[in-house]
Amino acid sequence: MSSIKDKIDLNKVPQHVAIIMDGNGRWAKKRNKDRIFGHREGVNSAKAVVEAAGELGIKYLTLYAFSSENWSRPKEEVEALMSLLVQGIRDELDNFIEKNIRIQVIGDLSKLQTEVRQAVEESIEKTKNNAALNVVIALSYGSRDEIVHAVREIARKVKEGDLDIEDITQNTVSEHLYTSEIPDPDFLIRTSGEQRISNFLLWQISYTELYFTPILWPDFKKEEFFDAIYNYQQRERRFGKISEQLSK
Ligand code: FPP
Repeated sequence: MSSIKDKIDLNKVPQHVAIIMDGNGRWAKKRNKDRIFGHREGVNSAKAVVEAAGELGIKYLTLYAFSSENWSRPKEEVEALMSLLVQGIRDELDNFIEKNIRIQVIGDLSKLQTEVRQAVEESIEKTKNNAALNVVIALSYGSRDEIVHAVREIARKVKEGDLDIEDITQNTVSEHLYTSEIPDPDFLIRTSGEQRISNFLLWQISYTELYFTPILWPDFKKEEFFDAIYNYQQRERRFGKISEQLSK
């Protein structure tokens, strides 16, 4: 079977792809199942996309697994999501090690239950020297909270005399975000037809190409990911310049 993958130029894949994995609940509802059923299939989609990103040689893949706003979902759903996450990370750890995948996490981890935090920390620690693909899990993550956190850190340095106000640049802000070691996303995918950003990487996506697809997350597997990357490669990124100024 021919795949859209064959049309992808492997020399021009985005360095960093970020994904808002949306639509698990609606996917389950269409099948008269509970929302957790959708999240479970959503984990399979996350695995498929990690594999696809690895095959293309993408360096960073950020997955929005749980937002700071998701804490206000019903308790059973929060618990189910957390246990799917712990289970998913534990099940995949050997595979991550074998495939040279590094796990990183961005978000307010202080809100996580001990068991969840331990599973996350173990996967970070055991994969910290891996370098093929960085899978960044946004967990208990909210972009405005992240920016507030960065502003506080910067203000503290100014107050303590370690930083001059005049020396604060865009780089200073970037360096104080959870993503300080991670390049800005080139491409952001959101599934399920919603066309919004939902407090995700607001600073980091200034020049990111956006891609919205009606496909619900549990239906988004490798072919759908390749389709999205092919779409990205048809675009011209100008960063405020005109076409003729770009080096081809
Ligand atoms: C959105 O669907 C999805 C989530 C809030 C959770 C996404 C999490 C996973 C797929 C878990 C896997 C992640 C990893 C990294 C193992 P929704 O519930 O908002 O769907 P709806 O909009 O249709 O209600």
